[in-house]
Amino acid sequence: MAKVAIMGYGTVGSGVYDIIKTNADKLSRSANGETVELKYILDIRDFDDHPEKELFTKEFNDILNDSEVSVVAEVMGGLHPAYEFTKSLLEAGKSVVTSNKELVATYGTELLEIARGKNVNYFFEASVGGGIPIIRPMHQCLTANNIEKIAGILNGTTNYILNQMIKNGKTFETALKDAQNKGFAERNPAADIEGHDACRKIAILASLASGKMVDYNDIDTEGITNITLDDVNYAAAMDAVVKLIGYAQFGEDGKVYSIVSPMVIKNDSPLSGVDGVMNAIMVTGDCVGNVMFYGAGAGKLPTASAVVADIVDAVKHNERSKKIFWEKPAENIMADKDAKKFAYFIRTTDSAENVQKIFGKCEFVDNIVDNESAFVTAPLTQSEADEKAAKLGNVVTKLRVLG
Ligand code: HSE
Repeated sequence: MAKVAIMGYGTVGSGVYDIIKTNADKLSRSANGETVELKYILDIRDFDDHPEKELFTKEFNDILNDSEVSVVAEVMGGLHPAYEFTKSLLEAGKSVVTSNKELVATYGTELLEIARGKNVNYFFEASVGGGIPIIRPMHQCLTANNIEKIAGILNGTTNYILNQMIKNGKTFETALKDAQNKGFAERNPAADIEGHDACRKIAILASLASGKMVDYNDIDTEGITNITLDDVNYAAAMDAVVKLIGYAQFGEDGKVYSIVSPMVIKNDSPLSGVDGVMNAIMVTGDCVGNVMFYGAGAGKLPTASAVVADIVDAVKHNERSKKIFWEKPAENIMADKDAKKFAYFIRTTDSAENVQKIFGKCEFVDNIVDNESAFVTAPLTQSEADEKAAKLGNVVTKLRVLG
């Protein structure tokens, strides 16, 4: 029998509890017949009405010092004390599984190294894409490939908001409130709408793909707070949608180009049809070509199902470290911001004549707003796009187009 603990009884933690209770037989079959028994739930709040209130503790040391507990699910979120708790547990020889992308993106390199040294596991399937299997597929099934690029809709909240704007003409604020009420949003919604959550997730995927830690601080990140109903209507007129994309491209020189930004996606791309809270991650490998992973990127049971799968895997690999890890690079591995060219969709109050003088060949889009020009440029580097846009009288919107 494997004894496990949950740290944090919020949306995901209570989902982990529910799945362990309701799918006990299935979990035991998957864990080679070993029963998964929940011994503790750590939370600073009181849960006196809970049917198993005796499982709750406010003392981290109850878990740390209990030699029977072999696997702990850290689903508390935030950096501290999650980092200190995880480090102590790994050092004590317990495996830890997590949905905490902030922690994995910030301290993953160190925590994975400690886990390896102690012959235990630090698994983080739920940290990217909620319930979508992506970490193991990238680590195992795609291992024969050099990964060339990753383009993902990695944040359910912003995808839900944009979708509500596109499909139902809802305002940004109303759609955000809906997402919060449904339990998709982070505790601080700025992490979602300003792109930080997606940034941490693409940093994790890029680290996994390159084998070297990609520091999320090095990824240019822009959220969706400046996207308006006019922008999404223009995109619709172009047979496209606006999505928040986490993008990473891997050069043969070992350099990683990565960016998070709202992008215009043509409707012939499979990413364009990813609606609501769904996430999708398109991975391009040099042998397999494009593969897309799709599913619920947020929410209680989808995310908890990935955490529980990690618990089962950790039980199966007790005292055997699976080599999922990346290293701190000896030198800067980030490519220059101009390493990748995008076409840009631009709205300006300047004249079409000036647009053509500055940008040369470009494709104009029918006006939705009076007295402005809207157009798509030829592929440009970021510096080229910025320099040319600075010559326009006034830029209303400038969005990359994902080719
Ligand atoms: N706030 C995140 C999202 C939750 O909306 O995708 C899952 O990481």
